Amino acid sequence: MAKILVTGGLGYIGSHTVVELIQSGYDVVIVDNLSNSEQTVLDGIEAITGVRPVFEQLDICDEKAFQACLTKYPHIDAVIHFAAYKAVGESVEKSLDYYRNNVFGLIQLLTLMRKNNIPNIIFSSSCTVYGQPDKLPIDESAPRKPATSPYGNTKQMCEDIIHDAVVSYHDIKAVLLRYFNPIGAHPSAKIGELPKGVPNNLVPFITQTAAGIRKELSVFGDDYNTPDGSAIRDYIYVVDLAKAHVKAMQRLLSGENKAEVEVFNLGTGQGVSVLELVKTFMKATGMNLPYKIVGRRSGDTEQVWADNTRAEKELGWTATTPLDEVLRSAWNWEKQVRGL
Ligand code: NAD
Ligand code: WQD
Repeated sequence: MAKILVTGGLGYIGSHTVVELIQSGYDVVIVDNLSNSEQTVLDGIEAITGVRPVFEQLDICDEKAFQACLTKYPHIDAVIHFAAYKAVGESVEKSLDYYRNNVFGLIQLLTLMRKNNIPNIIFSSSCTVYGQPDKLPIDESAPRKPATSPYGNTKQMCEDIIHDAVVSYHDIKAVLLRYFNPIGAHPSAKIGELPKGVPNNLVPFITQTAAGIRKELSVFGDDYNTPDGSAIRDYIYVVDLAKAHVKAMQRLLSGENKAEVEVFNLGTGQGVSVLELVKTFMKATGMNLPYKIVGRRSGDTEQVWADNTRAEKELGWTATTPLDEVLRSAWNWEKQVRGL
């Protein structure tokens, strides 16, 4: 079976994807510097799959360590590249760290892929590249809007670098996956999201509030031009998202890809408002969730959801898990982490 290198494989989306890869029969090599994850995630992966994947703790920006790993584990068929920093607000404070880790990290990876004859890459991009789109739902042909943060800029730059590298050398094929808003945790509650400090993202803030760690949720804005006034997003279950990576991998490895670089939106195709999500959480879990309406968060877009047609047609993938089940998985994970 094919051997897949997963950078950032102990992180939130990476760990769920590793589980799906192992369950689909792939050999997995994980590299991660643990800057935003913990080695115990390996135990969760092993408990779910019965397989403890190979793990090398290293920074992908460290050329020597990375090359040594590729020498130790030769004949890699493809890379799934999750390793990056992802906090939008922090990227404004620490822009050079973000450019070094996300942009230089990718350049290093592509250089070593070429040197070691690794011909395929799947890259974690984001719906953030679309900004506030002119037309909804958003399909992949929508123009990218100027980035509103260094983080968003790194995703655009990385997409461009992959395009350019493919055109220059024609020895790498790439799939760019633009995730919408990944949420939830594995149904086993053995792996999930581990935000450090106060969560920026909505669902971890909700589950921590329900667990009593935060006093109340602030809903950022109820004066948007949406049916209930709160902002709309496309919340995609992390396990459904992980399965899309397996589909994209099968496509690359079997040579079914129709271009050297392909781009896919990964969302549900459904927009959900913040208030709808809060209500669904309460109903799905039976937990009360204290919340108050506050002003808009600066830099937020009003409404964004995906047109999934291309992923459906070309990858044979759709998100199937209902939102209440997804939110229950997030809550079960929070309870497990807190020992509740
Ligand atoms: P995460 O922080 O949980 O996982 C990233 C992993 O990469 C972490 O385990 C971290 O320790 C590791 N890492 C970071 N820099 C590294 C380096 N230089 N060398 C080795 N390991 C390194 O994040 P995630 O939510 O799983 O996101 C994965 C990818 O998906 C990222 O590229 C992110 O930008 C992208 N993405 C995430 C979201 C989201 O909302 N979570 C949305 C769109 C795109
Ligand atoms: C969702 C909605 C908030 C917290 C971010 C990145 C994006 C992508 C996904 C990586 C918004 C509202 C939130 C809270 C709230 N990541 N909210 N109270 O901002 O859509 O996207 O994650 O690529 O690049 O920007 O996700 O979860 O932060 O917010 O009302 O305490 O919830 O205003 O409308 P966002 P989010």
